[in-house]
Amino acid sequence: MPSIDNFEFAHEHRRDVVWMSQNTNTIPMPRPIKEAILRSVEEAEYNLYPFKRGLFGLPEAVREDLGLEAQDVLITNGGIEGEYMATRALLKPGDEVVSTDPSFLPIHDQIAMAGARAVELDIYRKDYKLHADAAAKAVTPRTRALLLIDPNNPLGVGYTRSEVKGLARVAEDHGLWLLHDITYRDFNPDHVLASEFYPERTLLSYSFSKGPGLAGMRVGALLGMPEALKEIRRYDTNVLGTNVLAQRAALAALGCKREWLPAVRDIVRRNQEIIRDTVKRVDGCELPVFPSKANMFVIDTAATGVAPDAVEDRLLHDHMIHVRAGGYLSKRFGSKFVRVSFTVPTEQCEKFARAFPKVMETLTGS
Ligand SMILES: Cc1ncc(COP(=O)(O)O)c(C=O)c1O
Repeated sequence: MPSIDNFEFAHEHRRDVVWMSQNTNTIPMPRPIKEAILRSVEEAEYNLYPFKRGLFGLPEAVREDLGLEAQDVLITNGGIEGEYMATRALLKPGDEVVSTDPSFLPIHDQIAMAGARAVELDIYRKDYKLHADAAAKAVTPRTRALLLIDPNNPLGVGYTRSEVKGLARVAEDHGLWLLHDITYRDFNPDHVLASEFYPERTLLSYSFSKGPGLAGMRVGALLGMPEALKEIRRYDTNVLGTNVLAQRAALAALGCKREWLPAVRDIVRRNQEIIRDTVKRVDGCELPVFPSKANMFVIDTAATGVAPDAVEDRLLHDHMIHVRAGGYLSKRFGSKFVRVSFTVPTEQCEKFARAFPKVMETLTGS
C-alpha cells in the first residue's frame, strides 16, 4: 500500500496512532501554549487579518531565540513557505542548487518548480554528511545556491562549527546563496548558524513544527539580512499574514521555551536509547547514525531484504504505529531504510520497541 493511503488511514485513526512518521512532536507541552490559542479564540482575534509584520513581539522573539540582531524576519505559514518564496525569488530555469541525497525532497520539488535542479550529492555513506570539498567540487557556472539541512532530515546528522564554516566558505567563494534549513535545531544543543560566517547571503529557514510541536498550526519564519529578504519578499505569496492562532501559539512557545526544551531533549535522549537497543536485537537492521542530533533515525533494513514500504504498512495496520518508508526522502537509497521519529511520549516509543522486532520477524519469515 503506498504511503499516501497510509496517511489517510493514520489521520482517520488519529487518536489511536503512534505518530513516528512526520518528525512531528506529540509530547505534551506546557499549558501556556494552549492557553494562548484559547484566549485568542475567545477574543475572536481571528476576525482580523493579522498584522503583516507578525504579532507584536514575535519577530523579535524569533531573533532572540537564535541570538541574532541584524537579521530581518519574515513570519510564514511554516518554514516550507519561506523556502518556496526563496527558491522562487532566487532561482531561474537552468540554475543548480547543491544539496544531498537523502534529503527533505519537497524542497527539491520547490527548486524544480522554479525550473532549477537540485544536485543531489550522495551522503548515504560514512559519515553521512555533506563536506565542503564535495560541495565545492559540485559547483558549476550554473550553481546559485547551497541547501544545508542541519540537522539533516532524515539522517539526523548535525554539522560542527568547522563543518558549517567550511560550507559557508564554499558558498561565499562562489557567490552562492546558502539556504540553511534549521528546522531541527532545537534538538541539537551544539547547533551553529551559518549566518555567523556568511551573513550577507545566508537565509535561515526556521520552524515551530518540531521543537514545540506546532506542526498543524503552520507557522515558521525565514531570516536573512534586510537586503536579502527584500529580494525574497517580491515573491511573498501571503500578503495578508500568517494564521493568528498559530502566531499566538508560537509566541507563547518561545515564552516558555526554558520549560519545555530540556524536558523534550530528555525524552528524546531516552527514546533514542530505546530504539537503539531495539534495532540491535533485529538481525540485518542497523542505525547508520547514532546519536541523532534531530528527532529521528534512519533504520537501515537493506540486509534483511525487506521492502521499507512493507515495514511501514505492517507497523501501521498491525500495530497502529506510523513510520515512514525511505522513498519519501531518497530516490536512490529509499529502498534501504525506514525513518522513525521519536518525539513521542516514552510509553509510545516502548510500544514501537515491542512491535518492530515482531514486524521484522513476520516479514523476513524468521
Ligand atoms: C528539513 C525540513 N524543512 C522544512 C520542513 C517543513 O517545516 P514546516 O512545518 O515549518 O513548514 C520540514 C518538515 O518536515 C523539514 O523536514
